[in-house]
Amino acid sequence: MTAPPPRVRKAVVPGTCFLPATKATPKEMLPIVDKPAIQYVVEEAVAPGLDDVLMVTGRGKRTLEDPFDRNAELEAVLTGKGDTARLDLVRASTDLATVRCVRQGDPRGLGRAVLGAASHVGAEPFAVLLGGDLIDPADPLLSSMTAVREELGGNRPDGRRCRAHPPLRLCGGRVRGRDGIVRVTDPVEKPELGEAFSGRAVIGRYVLDPAVFEVLAKTRPGRAGEIQPTDALSTMARDPGIGGPVQAVVFTGHRHDTGDRGEYLRVTVRLACRRGDVGPGFRPWPQTLVARDLAA
Ligand code: G1P
Repeated sequence: MTAPPPRVRKAVVPGTCFLPATKATPKEMLPIVDKPAIQYVVEEAVAPGLDDVLMVTGRGKRTLEDPFDRNAELEAVLTGKGDTARLDLVRASTDLATVRCVRQGDPRGLGRAVLGAASHVGAEPFAVLLGGDLIDPADPLLSSMTAVREELGGNRPDGRRCRAHPPLRLCGGRVRGRDGIVRVTDPVEKPELGEAFSGRAVIGRYVLDPAVFEVLAKTRPGRAGEIQPTDALSTMARDPGIGGPVQAVVFTGHRHDTGDRGEYLRVTVRLACRRGDVGPGFRPWPQTLVARDLAA
């Protein structure tokens, strides 16, 4: 009998610019409503049960782990004031998951950062969440990806990996099949317009088989002179014997690139409107802004 596929338990968040703000503050630390962007990413990992999060950080990214660490001084002040509401908020991010950081000494691209997680991840399937991509918390993308990996992995011990892709720029390529899950046959990192075979793109969420580490270690620098996970996936897509075929979960929800100023503003307004606390008071404002102030 084939062993059931291991549950996806671990998440890797490779460090990723939003100048001039990021000269001093990593873009993952910019607040969206009242939480740093990175906290949404960790919460997204935790939702389908990935409670072991490794951040691969670099120079200037030391603050990334702070929201997930205890702040005894702040807790003591809030306790002294009897401010339990704020105390709960401060503690919520600490108790989310086990968050660890590893420094990427020699930044040579995303693939190198993922490789930096190899010894922590070991021989388990794992998720990669790019911190610059914010998925609307109402869209359970990662949950569907891990469910697909766990279900299909039962019949195929060689594993599967899933990627999500709305029709955007970014990594594109050929796909086979339609509706829900498609097979990626020829992923290309940042294809030129004429090369965007499928009209689909890959966004920053991956569930990967650990076989990817060996492939990444042999992958030569590609686009921008960096080691690209897309190139590793391309190798794997050509040879399903290495970790199984490359599958994609088609995503139809909302994804925002927080490194893009317009997108950053959009996601802030979207999430503020949706929030139970600030939402009701805030929601009329964008309507007035468009209908009255901007129309004038
Ligand atoms: C990275 C990846 C690319 C992926 C994109 C998704 O690119 O290299 O394959 O499609 O994230 O956000 P970046 O946008 O960081 O240049």
